[in-house]
Amino acid sequence: MKVLFALATIPLIAAFLILPDSSLDKHTSEMKKAQSIAIVFTVNKIGGAPEEQVLTLSKPDRFRWESPSRLVVGNGKTLIALDKGKNVYTETPQTPDTMRKALGEDAIWAWSAFFDPEFAASLANVKKGAARKVRNIAVTEVEVIRKDGRAFNVYVDDATGIVRGQTFEAPDKSQWLVLAKELKPSDKPAEDGVLAAKLPDGAKKAEDAAASSGPKLAYADIRGILERNCVSCHSGPGAKKGVDLADYNAVKRQVTVGNADASRLVRIIRRGQMPPSGPLPKSEIDQLAKWVNDGANP
Ligand code: HEC
Repeated sequence: MKVLFALATIPLIAAFLILPDSSLDKHTSEMKKAQSIAIVFTVNKIGGAPEEQVLTLSKPDRFRWESPSRLVVGNGKTLIALDKGKNVYTETPQTPDTMRKALGEDAIWAWSAFFDPEFAASLANVKKGAARKVRNIAVTEVEVIRKDGRAFNVYVDDATGIVRGQTFEAPDKSQWLVLAKELKPSDKPAEDGVLAAKLPDGAKKAEDAAASSGPKLAYADIRGILERNCVSCHSGPGAKKGVDLADYNAVKRQVTVGNADASRLVRIIRRGQMPPSGPLPKSEIDQLAKWVNDGANP
């Protein structure tokens, strides 16, 4: 019985091995080949208004993705994500994993083939569908089931073999349509200016934004933290590196008033570089940052 079953599955397996659907092969290889690609596209929740977004990808590891509400930039080292409504951004180290997560979002995952060597391996099933025209461009519909079970109906441009758009159902059952208006692969990397984050004036780092709510702090609120942890080495003429933290005026000289993120003192503490005995508790770090953001008041 087992043998019969095994025999019966052989042709099925063979069919998969011999005749895999190649509808996305050109897309994958063109994405691998390009040095950069600029995509202007609309994202449309069915029943809602279309939103225009721009995605620029550049080898080996840089990208910029902007929508009316968000900006996400990977500069090779750091992922910067700006919430435009709040004018608050976060910074996380850029690794293959964090990058895959950022570029794997539903609206743009098909273009993540540009960077992701695992792209083809992430697809469970690819099935060629009907030929049709979207925005006057001849495309072929291709049904894709990913290994994570999600299904997408992508539109492959007949002329270039590259995915131009897709429809899909989000986990919350909403229906979406994504469609590129412009899509330009290039054999040159994108220019620095195109990839720059260019954060708006007054944009605050998330931890600083969190550190600026609540009543304003005064020197008396943070003096104890410095006295307990810093002053033994940072006081008077013998202060290490000339950094004196023993009184208000001396401490104020070490910070950029109103901007904890730009203050060497706060950055060094956040990095855990000082005190040498090990990082301060987060609540104390936040308090120092808030004091600086509040205006480093006496
Ligand atoms: C046990 C002694 C010691 C303690 C405690 C200490 N520091 Fe330092 N600190 C040093 C030494 C030594 C250096 C010089 C390190 C170097 O040059 O790499 C230094 C350097 C610095 C610098 C200048 C760094 C630079 O690269 O310019 C700052 C700012 C600083 N410390 C802040 C602090 C703060 C804030 C605390 C308390 C949270 C603190 N330190 C606690 C010994 C100490």
